[in-house]
Amino acid sequence: MTAAIEVDDLKKTYRGRKTGEINAVDGVSFRVEEGEFFGILGPNGAGKTTTLEIVEGLRRPDSGDVRLLGSSPWPHSPALAARIGVQLQASAFFEFLSAREQIETFARLYGAGEARAAAMLEEVGLADSANVRAEKLSGGQKQRLSIACALVGDPELVFLDEPTAALDPQARRNLWDLIRKINGEGRTVVLTTHYMEEAEALCDRVAIMDAGRVRAIGSPRELIASLEAPTRISVASGQLDAARVGELAAGEPVREEGGLTVFETRDPQKLLTELAAAGALEDLAVRTASLEDVFLEVTGREWRE
Ligand SMILES: Nc1ncnc2c1ncn2[C@@H]1O[C@H](COP(=O)(O)OP(=O)(O)O)[C@@H](O)[C@H]1O
Ligand SMILES: [Mg+2]
Repeated sequence: MTAAIEVDDLKKTYRGRKTGEINAVDGVSFRVEEGEFFGILGPNGAGKTTTLEIVEGLRRPDSGDVRLLGSSPWPHSPALAARIGVQLQASAFFEFLSAREQIETFARLYGAGEARAAAMLEEVGLADSANVRAEKLSGGQKQRLSIACALVGDPELVFLDEPTAALDPQARRNLWDLIRKINGEGRTVVLTTHYMEEAEALCDRVAIMDAGRVRAIGSPRELIASLEAPTRISVASGQLDAARVGELAAGEPVREEGGLTVFETRDPQKLLTELAAAGALEDLAVRTASLEDVFLEVTGREWRE
């Protein structure tokens, strides 16, 4: 496989008068394959944006190497810039321009025509809002417009920094469909997010960052499987007598908690079959491990947003 991005031991320290030194990026390495959907997942302040800006060539690292599509992103090269799309913050729009005028401005920068600009508005579902001023668009529409602007130059690689932050669940899901489609067209996508379920739903592989470091890297499935965590199955209490509960638990942990009988099992299929056979599925809930559990395992603390 060909690497779209290779990052080796990146470091970046910010020095502020009030904050002192902050090791925002503290030895980060990863590799993104061509066509891959790669996520950088971490809580606020983890160092995601700084890492992304260095990879995009917008910020210079203190040390470490970056190869972006085979070249160094620093110093800035127009040839490389033409091959990547960077989603700008929605707040970076020109207030008084319509959606169409915004994207046509970007199209000119990339040497793309008005037809391409119109096609991209259509692509992100904004054709009907082409004449609406950017400031009047909804949060989800602004995000769509900024993604359309990032795509107008037909990039091979697209960077999205928290594209769904502050969107309602419906707008977020719509945007997921759009981003999946962009990746489905063969473009490499690098996305940052602080939403666990977003990384789990979208990414082929994720790097989990915390305090400037990559704490774990792999596909969400691999990372979750590596925990070897039991599945938690709960049903309403009182459907089974204590002896039967003990038999079904088969030596694995079981407890009564808030009106529920809670089993922890490594053989969920067997237990579920037995619970069904016993007619004891009232209030059934099944919880498998998630990236949240991976975060807890690798950082030793709960996720905070
Ligand atoms: N321009 C800056 N000057 C000083 N400190 C910064 C700057 N940008 C980010 N930081 C600090 O660096 C750390 C990482 O920030 P950032 O890369 O924005 O993380 P994330 O995108 O994961 O929230 C945070 O502690 C943040 O406060
Ligand atoms: Mg950020």
